[in-house]
Amino acid sequence: MPTAPTPYDAIILGAGAAGLMCAAVAGQRGRKVLLLDHADEPGKKILISGGGRCNFTNLHTAPDRYLSGNRHFAKSALSRYTAQDFLALVERYGIAWHEKTLGQLFCDGSARQIVAMLLEECAKGAVDIACACPIREVTHADGQYHVNTPRGIATAPALVIATGGPSIPKMGATGFAYDLARQFGLKVVQPRPALVPLTLSGEDALFRELSGVSADVVARTGKTRFREAALFTHRGLSGPAILQISSYWRHGEGVGIDFLPDHPRDWLLAAKREAPRTTLRRLLRAALAERLADRLAADLALEAELGNLPDRALAAAQARLADWTFLPNGSEGYAKAEVTAGGVDTAGLSSQTMEAKAVPGLYVIGEAVDVTGWLGGYNFQWAWASANAAGQAV
Ligand code: FDA
Repeated sequence: MPTAPTPYDAIILGAGAAGLMCAAVAGQRGRKVLLLDHADEPGKKILISGGGRCNFTNLHTAPDRYLSGNRHFAKSALSRYTAQDFLALVERYGIAWHEKTLGQLFCDGSARQIVAMLLEECAKGAVDIACACPIREVTHADGQYHVNTPRGIATAPALVIATGGPSIPKMGATGFAYDLARQFGLKVVQPRPALVPLTLSGEDALFRELSGVSADVVARTGKTRFREAALFTHRGLSGPAILQISSYWRHGEGVGIDFLPDHPRDWLLAAKREAPRTTLRRLLRAALAERLADRLAADLALEAELGNLPDRALAAAQARLADWTFLPNGSEGYAKAEVTAGGVDTAGLSSQTMEAKAVPGLYVIGEAVDVTGWLGGYNFQWAWASANAAGQAV
């Protein structure tokens, strides 16, 4: 931050995905922007995202792929800055990319290219960036926001909160956005870890012995279902299907797993007719990883040849395999959560601009807002889109 006071049009707190994008958009509109972060470099979560390749957007972005207290809130911003818009930016910078699966776009090279691109965009907008700059206090008087840091006090008529959520605290993530929002009278929807592995205890804990085994499943909680891989871990359940379902799961609820989503409902009865001498364990071993097949077969306790088992028992076993209910006792928490669900209540924000309805000049964008995407590039797309909405308005 320059030592001589500079008249800024906007101060953006947090140089992550949303803050960088918002600064670039506002700067390129001719606004004088200061971007502050307490971390020693910008975009740290971008750098580790997507296994270092940054799953920067998803071609199937749509409002129904986001959780929020108001399912309509994200519509406006997402429609005005689309996955194709971000992709066009990536292509202008010559960054090679590929679609991995399910519309998920990744860099061929490195997530560093995305951070470099955003910094270049900020430079085009003459944005002042100050990293390693903790924020001591924010006040508001006479239509101006004053941000007090060890390097001095910066002042502007617009303040954008882009400090994200508390997931992965060891990377410098904090709940600062919520504290600041509350300071200005905004409500916060109870934050909770999302896209996070679930932990198992009690009888379910036996499945932790399968650590490292995965299966293509349908995971379910309530009416929400995801078809992807599930992975057993030494603490419980992970893998994309579980991470997705974790965002919808609440303490005390079960998670149902269909271990055989491609098998017909009468699979076991048909097998009994066609191969009466075979066993359930043998059949399961042909369909699933051996250790998983053995675990399920042991729990179902049907060791006899299928021909000697009553149809009723086989139908019950099949029903259980199609909806095997685990009762997670918790999640691995913010330490392992890819995002934070909940956050600044959308009821207090304009969906057009992200400005607080009751606090002129105060904006909240990105993960800090109560809008949480599915796994697969949706969260970055929300960061870009909400940042664009505010960047066009400040
Ligand atoms: P973000 O967290 O990016 O930025 C917040 C910034 O504020 C940080 O720079 C932080 O240092 C700063 N800050 C925090 N507290 C502060 C304070 N008190 N004072 C000053 N500065 C402060 N999403 C996706 O779409 N595709 C993917 O591939 C991945 N992969 C992924 C992997 C891992 C391991 C994680 C943890 C997360 C992902 N995500 C993801 C989620 C994605 O990283 C996340 O949704 C966005 O980074 C959110 O962008 P924001 O700018 O809102 O917050």
